[in-house]
Amino acid sequence: MLGSKIVSFQTLASTNTYLKDNYRNFTHGTIVTCVHQTEGKGRFNRKWFAGEDLLLSILIKENLKLTEIPQLGLVCAAAVYETLKKYVSDLIIKWPNDILVRGKKLAGILLESVIGENRLNCLIIGIGINVNTVNYPKELAHKSTSLKLQTGNSYVIDELQKKLIENINVFYLEFKLDNHRYIDICIMNSGLIGKDVVFNNFSSVKKGKVLAILRNGNILIEADGIATEYNYGEITLSEY
Ligand code: BTN
Repeated sequence: MLGSKIVSFQTLASTNTYLKDNYRNFTHGTIVTCVHQTEGKGRFNRKWFAGEDLLLSILIKENLKLTEIPQLGLVCAAAVYETLKKYVSDLIIKWPNDILVRGKKLAGILLESVIGENRLNCLIIGIGINVNTVNYPKELAHKSTSLKLQTGNSYVIDELQKKLIENINVFYLEFKLDNHRYIDICIMNSGLIGKDVVFNNFSSVKKGKVLAILRNGNILIEADGIATEYNYGEITLSEY
């Protein structure tokens, strides 16, 4: 079970970095958490700002097909969505795994794989949920939000964490049994289908329209009259 061992710290540079450096010492499913994170990492080498938030990383040490790696990001996005929807309405899962509310980011997921000689040594899934933070640096204030900013209430991070881990276990088990309910949740709540977007997959940047989130977890984008499927990249919506 994921989280049958939870290793908690007061302060870490990054829960993902800690697991990357120490994965050999831990078994599959270990979760690392911390209260303060000083060098949190986001996707595409961005920094992840954290105040009083939920910060954890999960160690996956099972044999995975390469196509399953981004799918596990969606599994976790569905679990984060299901956990947070009880507290706040109008949530969106912005492909691949950002959770937004009213155009602002409430949670993010960072997948990092450690590759050995022709094999995946482990996958680390880092999840950050903005919970009780109310002050964001100027450059983030227009695009980040927290549960507290949305609802006016404070939350007990340990309780949220417990619910999140329960949900991740449900979706992870379903995934392993070929039940793809997670993708239904990601599709139904994507908020992207039919929207004009800018798509950046770091080899090219294109303006296009999102046609679909596919059941394999990829996104289908039409640009210059051609529909192309991607498993990696970043979407920018003009209205966000
Ligand atoms: C993103 O949206 O860019 C992903 C953000 C992921 C942040 C979490 S916080 C816990 C874990 N440790 C990190 O350094 N990053 C992830």
